[in-house]
Amino acid sequence: MISARLPAPFGLISLDSVGSTNDEARRLAQSGAAADFLVVSAESQSAGRGRRGRAWVSPAGNLHFSLLIRIQSLSSAAQLGFAAAAALVSALSTLLPQGQFQAKWPNDVMAAGRKCAGMLLESAGTDWLVLGIGVNVVAAPPPVGLNHPACALADLGFSGTADDVLAAFCTDFLPLVQAWRGQGFAPVRQAWLNCARGLGQPTVVRLETDTQTGIFAGLDEEGALLLDQGASGFRRILAGDVFFPDAR
Ligand code: BTN
Repeated sequence: MISARLPAPFGLISLDSVGSTNDEARRLAQSGAAADFLVVSAESQSAGRGRRGRAWVSPAGNLHFSLLIRIQSLSSAAQLGFAAAAALVSALSTLLPQGQFQAKWPNDVMAAGRKCAGMLLESAGTDWLVLGIGVNVVAAPPPVGLNHPACALADLGFSGTADDVLAAFCTDFLPLVQAWRGQGFAPVRQAWLNCARGLGQPTVVRLETDTQTGIFAGLDEEGALLLDQGASGFRRILAGDVFFPDAR
């Protein structure tokens, strides 16, 4: 069971095995028991969810948690996913300086080009964002059917625990949330761009029904990926699987 000592104002509810920590967090919000910066973590998940309807393999030893953040409006809540990704890159880089961590649009974290963490943002009513984060600490998922190669921190020489990762994440996430609440998206966007994978590089985006190519030119206010398609102009990508053929 996770027993991390988290910095104030984070709170922690630590569970053994659940379906999905996002569901547990949403239940708390719906029952009026949510608190700003409350972490709901579980040792393992039997029905962990990823984005786009995918499953998230969640064995004991990896980190699975959902963080409740109070929001004023749903329209800008997705911006917090970029704050979380930038904070996780920063935290992991502190724990494992040789890890070559980068944020990959929209909310993945990569280690030397392999995915080691992902995020699933969901809302609970209009007041709460549920920020679900999974980090492969000890084990990567089996390589079948993955869009991108995956790895675990242990593969890179990390000998710490899920507790260590959670505490480091919370420490680096707090100032970004405070900056976001005070100044809006600009500081978060800059923090994310500073550690983004593939910025300025040729990019392939696989959408539901087609594939688009261009140069990854940045992020707009809503967190859409801006794809520079030359003479065709800029295309905003709100959802899709992104690949950087030239990235290392
Ligand atoms: C992705 O990369 O597709 C997102 C993965 C999100 C996984 C985390 S683990 C904690 C939380 N609970 C879930 O069911 N999903 C998220």
